[in-house]
Amino acid sequence: MTSIVISSQKGGVGKTTVSINLAFAFAKAGRKVLLVDADPQGSVGLSLTRQSRKLLGFFDYLSEDGCSLQSLVVPTRMETFSMVPSGQGEGYELGGGYNESVAERVQCFIDDAESDGYDLVIFDSAAGLFGITRDVLVCADAALVPQQAEPLGIRSVPKMLQGLTDLRAMNPKLKILGVLLTMVQRELAESAEAADSLRELLPEALVMLEEIGRNDLFLKASGKGVPVGVLQGAEALSNNFNGLRLEIESKLGLSRDNA
Ligand SMILES: Nc1ncnc2c1ncn2[C@@H]1O[C@H](COP(=O)(O)OP(=O)(O)OP(=O)(O)O)[C@@H](O)[C@H]1O
Ligand SMILES: [Mg+2]
Repeated sequence: MTSIVISSQKGGVGKTTVSINLAFAFAKAGRKVLLVDADPQGSVGLSLTRQSRKLLGFFDYLSEDGCSLQSLVVPTRMETFSMVPSGQGEGYELGGGYNESVAERVQCFIDDAESDGYDLVIFDSAAGLFGITRDVLVCADAALVPQQAEPLGIRSVPKMLQGLTDLRAMNPKLKILGVLLTMVQRELAESAEAADSLRELLPEALVMLEEIGRNDLFLKASGKGVPVGVLQGAEALSNNFNGLRLEIESKLGLSRDNA
């Protein structure tokens, strides 16, 4: 089993959107995927179900008298695609620094997911590299860093990558998959320049080849509570996420036999 965290320094760069649609792409390819909402805002749950505010979830698992993983899993219409919402998490203290006992619970969660037969766990996370996001990164196999293609945001990327590299002291297996450019508007000079300057700034291996364009269908999809790929007219976007899936499989050396 492989665990991937979708993580960024800045908020609102498309983490939740990428988490949902990447999970969907892997599930469509036949991998058994668990999408986990590790953001206390609960955005994945709100995007995919209407009742997630009441559901138990990841933060309940982390709390001292935590519950079993199986009791938290919400199925979707697709057999290979399940979700764990963020939950209530009463008793779980948000914020603060890296917490060894929380990281141990995160590791238990990942181990349980493996025992339950999942091929892949994708964690959506809250912005920044502190608190629970840090605890999850300390346990996971890989990190993908969405970054909106806009001039100011691009500047924070090297610092974010350095932060992830520093975390490898605690988790040497953590593979930095790279930056994924999101909300790219190639027709807009500022956006295209921001995207290109990031590609110039970073080593090739640290920027995903695939880019996610800005598209109103993402808003439509989140209004309907579905991955964008199920909407009519979203074939090109589906292809982007499928391309991203293939890039990730190649970077992680995931064998095609399992898919
Ligand atoms: N490629 C895109 N094209 C158009 N809109 C997008 C795209 N990606 C994300 N959005 C929209 O931008 C907003 C922020 O996206 P999203 O919630 O995925 O970001 P986030 O990084 O998870 O934010 P947060 O840090 O608050 O969790 C949402 O309204 C989403 O629908
Ligand atoms: Mg989010």
